[in-house]
Parts: sequence; structure tokens; C-alpha cells
Amino acid sequence: MKRDEFSGFFGVLVATVGSAVGLGNLWRFPYLVGQNGGAAFILIYLAFVLVICLPIMISEFIIGRRTQANTVKAFQMLAPRTPWGAVGIVGVVAAFCILAFYTVVGGWTMDYIFRSVIHVFSTPDASAIESQFAALVTSPIRPIFWTILFILLSALIVMSGIKKGIEKYSRIMMPFLFFMVVILMIRSVTLPGAEKGILFLVKPDFSKINTQVALAALGQAFFSLSLGMGCMITYGSYIPKRENLTKLAFTTAMSDTLFAILAGLAIMPAVFSFGISPQEGPGLVFIVLPRIFAQIPLGNIFAVMFYLILFIAAITSSISLLEVVTAYITEKLKMKRKTAVAIISALVAVCASFSSLSQGVLQHVKIFGKSIFDFFDYLSANILLPLGGLSIVLFVGWYIKKSTVYDEFTNQGTLKGTLFRAYYFLIRYVAPVAIAAVFVDLIVR
Ligand code: PHE
Repeated sequence: MKRDEFSGFFGVLVATVGSAVGLGNLWRFPYLVGQNGGAAFILIYLAFVLVICLPIMISEFIIGRRTQANTVKAFQMLAPRTPWGAVGIVGVVAAFCILAFYTVVGGWTMDYIFRSVIHVFSTPDASAIESQFAALVTSPIRPIFWTILFILLSALIVMSGIKKGIEKYSRIMMPFLFFMVVILMIRSVTLPGAEKGILFLVKPDFSKINTQVALAALGQAFFSLSLGMGCMITYGSYIPKRENLTKLAFTTAMSDTLFAILAGLAIMPAVFSFGISPQEGPGLVFIVLPRIFAQIPLGNIFAVMFYLILFIAAITSSISLLEVVTAYITEKLKMKRKTAVAIISALVAVCASFSSLSQGVLQHVKIFGKSIFDFFDYLSANILLPLGGLSIVLFVGWYIKKSTVYDEFTNQGTLKGTLFRAYYFLIRYVAPVAIAAVFVDLIVR
């Protein structure tokens, strides 16, 4: 049977951008910008995306498309009888760990959509909103209900396959997502006093920059672009042979960055307009924004829009994570896609339930000093992704034959490959050193 694939450039693009644009852009990016000096952080982030992450994304596409296999088999095919396959396994484990907390946050977004529809955010009172959020995440039942529903929806999409599932739904959801975030941005930048927020995002304060900030930017770039765990390898394996991988990676990285900036412009001016500190941290979208929605005209409509955006961004990323595990299980165990997805989703639901409960009744359970939720988050984002990223650049830069890499980069010599030398230099020298630096920093901190 012919392996499923995406239908063409736009089809792949909506899927890769769908994977990249997620909670990382809407929730993590704005608060990191807020905590790390605004525009200066954004500039460093941009530089890292271009110099380090773009080459890594191209490399992941190369591994995937060359082998047309799941991430574990891809490494095994390119490096038979070596331990390189372990990099693929680590990627599958990372995908599973991310799913175990990401789907919980996905569940919260659904609860927030529901609540904005029934007009619960009608009070600007900070402590009331804060306790509403606390009540949700610590409840033993409500967040698990939403999380399981979120997993179920992701599973239904992945069960339908690549073209008829992932691509089809991304085609509908992604343009809608960009459209809505633009509307929200317009609302935000036209609030009285919004200039201060805009200025914060465009006027760099270089005195805020230090290595910690730089490393935070690199870690964020990794997470946001879905790199280092085989997601882009898996999607890469479904890219038709005629597509230009460099162009695809560039467009994906730019769309993700554009979206992050749009999200910043949708959030920061509103935050400044209401005189709230931009350094609120992780509670920004669930605690600070409801206060703002309660105070602007038609706030409930904007609230529904915002949490719908958050939900769509989260689910298109969640399906890419689920696909990494699904591709592996179906191909390894020769299992039917639907059966594999059902089993994996059930397992994810169990782990996610534990991470949800760890916010409340299981608060006292600690793994290496962290709650279950934080453990999954820390293990995947801070350890498995950088480790995976490092292995991938070493693999493509130093292990695979240069001619193989060139061949795939230029579609068997049919493309000019002008940028190949620059790409190869970045992947061989710049990226490994930079990632090793982040990794060391994250471990010692
Ligand atoms: N890129 C996604 C986001 O920004 C998260 C993600 C990471 C998805 C790794 C897949 C793989 O939310």
C-alpha cells in the first residue's frame, strides 16, 4: 500500500505551521518577552530562528523525506546497525511526555471557551479571577473531563490519516487562526494607552540582555518550532519529493515567528493599557486577560475568540505530537492506524489525568522535586528536546554522507542549492555549539 502523504506545498505548510504555532506562541512567548526586556528579546529570538533553528528544521525534513519512515526507522535506515535509532526513540518518548501536559492546558482552553460563552468573566476583580483559575486547575474532575475531550478530538483527526485528517483540518483551522489573531490585535492596539505596549515590543532595551535571556530565547525557539523530537522528521516523511524543503522550512519558521509577534501585539498593548505589569509570567493568558476582557466593550466576544484561538493553536500542535507516536507504532507493530491511535490516546489520557490531578489532590506527589505536570514539562522541553536537537545536527552534519544531504536538499540535483554551503556550515559548527550551550545552562540552573 502506498504511504499516505501531504498533497502539495500549501498542504504541508498548514500542517507544519499548525504544529509550530501553539501554546508556545500564545502563552509562553508573550510572557517571556515580558520578563526578558521586550524588543531586545525578540531580536535575539529572530536571530536564533534564522541561524540555528531554520537549519535544524531543514535537517529534520531531510531525514524524514529521505527515508519516508517514522522517526525511529528513519534513523535506523540512514545508520543501520548503530545506536542512532535511540534518537528516534527519545523523540517518541518526548512526544508522549509533551502530550501528557500539553493536553491538560488544551483542556483548560476548552473550559475557558465554555465559560466565556456563558459570560463568567464579567468581573474585573483580580482575586476573583485568580481563584476561578485555581478552582479549575485543582478540581479533580472538571479539567480531566476537558482534557479527555481534547485528546478525543485530536485522536479523531489523527485517525483519519495525513491528507484526509491532519492536512484537511489544518487547512480549515490555520487560516481562520491567523484571521482571528489579526482582529484581536487590531482591538488591542486601538485601546487607549496601547502605545506603551507597542513601544515595549519594538524598542529594544539592550541593557536587559545577558546569557540567561539569550538562552531562554533559544529554548523558546526550539519549543515553538517543534524541533528536536522528530515531529518535523515525521511530517517530513509525508512531504512529496518535488517540494523545496528550504522554502518550506523558511516559510514555516517565518509564519510561526509572525504569529508569535501578532500574539504579542494582541496581548501586550492590552496589558499596558490596563496598567498591568508585563512580567506576570505563566498566568498571563488565564488570569490577566480575563480581567481585561471583563472591562472592554464586547469583551465576552473577544474572550471567546481568544480562547478559541488558543484551542485551535493547541490542537493542531497536539495532533502533530500524536502523529509522531502513531507513525512509529503503526509501522513498527504493523498495526492499523485507528487501533494504534486509540491505544496511544488512552495511555496519554491516563498520564494527562495524573498531571492534571497533580495540580490539586496529588499535589504532594513529587518526582525529582517536581509535580507530575512540571516533571513532564521539564523533562521534555528542557532535557529531551535539546538532547534530541543536538543529536539531529550531529547526525546530519557529521554522520550522514554530505552527498546524501546535498541530494535531498536539492531534490536530486534539480534545484540550484545556492544556500547549501551556508546551511551545511551552520549545521556542522554553529548549531551544535549553540545547543550544547543551552543544554548545559538548563541542566546547571
Ligand atoms: N510548537 C508547539 C507550540 O509552540 C509545541 C510543540 C513542541 C509541538 C514540540 C510539537 C512538538 O506550542
